[in-house]
Amino acid sequence: MSDIAELDLRDPAFVADPYPSYAALRAQGPLQYHERSGLWLAFSHEHAAAVLRERRLGRLWRDREPLSELEPFNLLHRHQMMENEPPEHTRLRRLVAQAFARGHVERLQPRVEQITHELVDAVATSGSADLIADVAAPLPVAVIAELLGVPASDRPLLRPWSDAIVRMYEYDRTPRDEAAAVSAATEFAGYVRALLRRRRQAPHDDLLTHLAAAQENGVGLSEDEAVASAVLLLNAGHEASVNVLGNGIVALLRHPEQLDRLRADPALAPAAVEEMIRYDPPLHLFERTATAAVELGGVRLPAGAKVAALLGSANRDPAVFAAPERFDITRAPNPHLGFGAGIHFCLGAPLARLELTTALPILLARMPELRLLAEPVPRLRFVIRGNQSIQVAFTPRR
Ligand code: HEM
Repeated sequence: MSDIAELDLRDPAFVADPYPSYAALRAQGPLQYHERSGLWLAFSHEHAAAVLRERRLGRLWRDREPLSELEPFNLLHRHQMMENEPPEHTRLRRLVAQAFARGHVERLQPRVEQITHELVDAVATSGSADLIADVAAPLPVAVIAELLGVPASDRPLLRPWSDAIVRMYEYDRTPRDEAAAVSAATEFAGYVRALLRRRRQAPHDDLLTHLAAAQENGVGLSEDEAVASAVLLLNAGHEASVNVLGNGIVALLRHPEQLDRLRADPALAPAAVEEMIRYDPPLHLFERTATAAVELGGVRLPAGAKVAALLGSANRDPAVFAAPERFDITRAPNPHLGFGAGIHFCLGAPLARLELTTALPILLARMPELRLLAEPVPRLRFVIRGNQSIQVAFTPRR
């Protein structure tokens, strides 16, 4: 597709493989107005990075309507750092970043190793697994839940809640999706609110306690902000990582020579993880709104204009990446935009990198002759790109 007028962000064929359309549209124009979505779309690396860094293009939260029905969903977003600009963003991000730093991400490495081994133990003798359900999903959920202090018995609640909420970020959502998102948001917020209150009465050594304390000091977070921050961390803390593991392992399986290199030299894992995020990123579109008239790549956008950075397109821009369609686990430099850029740059990037670089070599070592048993089943969602299931086989442990 090389005509922006034909681009339909809900078209299953586009969603299944957006990369050929990205290439054609990027070549046609790095920043183009897309009538159907009412968005200026940034296809090039330069323009997408500029969208994320330009301070007059902000994340401005507008409550979804009808207000009376969508309040539980709105409540969780209105008070999030990701949906706000300074000064709110600075205050919310600083408090969460402090809490995060106290958790000492690096200290988590032995736990990530242990959890990965336990997950592989459960499938090792059978020689087959669903990479999503058995490994890629439970690993980041367990890590972020532990960091926040969500009891192990409650962890199965998190992914279904998150899944229903993030469905609202897609362009093909239906009224049924909205209803499901509202009930998930209601239950999730109620659950986290109760947990924060318990932590205030009986502090633990976890991030929820820190958020609860920040709330008590008066200067810090309101209770709604603490709830929204905790839900944001729990959701953002696993959604993308699940899909990087899934999309990335599929890329490795489709490029066996790259898989062999990584198996032979696990020290390549950090570079391989960056390439997994560049090549088939889990998050494809982030919106901004012009708070004042702004010039972007020679185009003058009026105040109120809506713009989106297309991360998956930026990551394949030949102006920045040599042979961008090639999956190369030793690519260097690799300035992909998978974690965003500017003031909203992913707060969890160190945690995500630690998780992925720790888990990947363990999975490959403990799943010899890993191969696809069937074609991966895609989720067929545009904004959050991933697979529903990836059935694999490997040589079982005797
Ligand atoms: C490989 C996995 C991950 C990817 C690819 C990813 C990607 C991103 C991106 C692109 C943004 C920027 C959004 C924007 O500009 O509007 C972002 C923001 C954010 N991410 Fe991640 N993320 C990942 C993992 C995590 C994890 C593990 C956490 C755990 C806490 C996390 C927490 C956040 C938060 C809190 C923000 C908002 C930052 C702000 O608004 O200042 N992410 N992430």
